[in-house]
Amino acid sequence: MENIENEYFHIELEMLGESQLFPFNVFIYNPSNETYTPYLYGNSPLTEEKKNFLDYILEKGAELAISMKQKKTFLRDRELKEEDIPDLAPTELHELIVKREKLLEEKMASKEKKGKFHFNDELKKAYENDDFTAIIEEAHSDLICLGITISPTVSLATFFAENLLIGDTYVNRVVALSHLLAKNSGMIDDLALGELACASFMAHLGQTQMEKSLSDKAYLEMTDSQRKKYKKHAGLTQHMTRKAGIELSERCMRIILQHHERYDGSGYPDQTKGQYIEPLALVLGCAAHILEYTTGKITGTKTPLQTVLSNMKNKTLSPGLEIEFGDSLYNSLTNIFGDKINIDSKEAA
Ligand SMILES: [Fe+2]
Repeated sequence: MENIENEYFHIELEMLGESQLFPFNVFIYNPSNETYTPYLYGNSPLTEEKKNFLDYILEKGAELAISMKQKKTFLRDRELKEEDIPDLAPTELHELIVKREKLLEEKMASKEKKGKFHFNDELKKAYENDDFTAIIEEAHSDLICLGITISPTVSLATFFAENLLIGDTYVNRVVALSHLLAKNSGMIDDLALGELACASFMAHLGQTQMEKSLSDKAYLEMTDSQRKKYKKHAGLTQHMTRKAGIELSERCMRIILQHHERYDGSGYPDQTKGQYIEPLALVLGCAAHILEYTTGKITGTKTPLQTVLSNMKNKTLSPGLEIEFGDSLYNSLTNIFGDKINIDSKEAA
């Protein structure tokens, strides 16, 4: 649709001065229906009667406007400059937009200096040294640069990244790994990445409301009743965010609720299958599961990353290992870690 607002600029009545004849057309803008109507054609006199009516409708909220096509004629005749007219003055950029532009520039400069970030190599190093700082810093530098006018959820993701995605904590590992897995799987739009980041930060908030023993115990070591309680953590997160009045997008909520759903319907809480699962929920589920499995939160024993990736890739059944994340995520995992999995699985064997 044509942006009619850009076809006119608004002026003040005083700008017409005492003249009666003008070489340009004067329009009336009616804010109640957002229309522009010609009021005084060029070279037709602004009579006393017309002037009185003008005073009357301006008092009622109407505004005077000139067509952009006659901008030069108007400025020359009225001896005005663009900066004298607020509607023509350059729009000042919001400080957050200026800040984002600066961050993007700094990011580009730092990338050029450091060279390309190799996700697979960095993840391998992170596990070898038990230090995810480089992975988290990479996600941090991406997420603080997300567009700031996209949606409240994306803005919240940027806020979280700026203030929380600092330091090597477990939650930050989940956020960073989910982000880089999504990005390296071709999900690169700011909206998707922002919603995923928000969901990754918040998905396990529900666990804070559960008895401590559930957080300490490996999943396979839980009793049936403990497991039943544990499975409520995503629903509890949703409940908490709603109660706190945090407005998350519908998709962000879905990512949180579905991050334990699995492609074959073996997940929870609703045993949702295949295409009915939000793809970003599978990304978060996969990243969180890799971290949980490797750190012993599933079996009670740590497992090398290479073994987990290799077993996932080859669909080798191992206790507690989940492999149903859908073919497209598998293809991404193979593309990202393909060679490494083969090399390292030999080393790990
Ligand atoms: Fe979870």
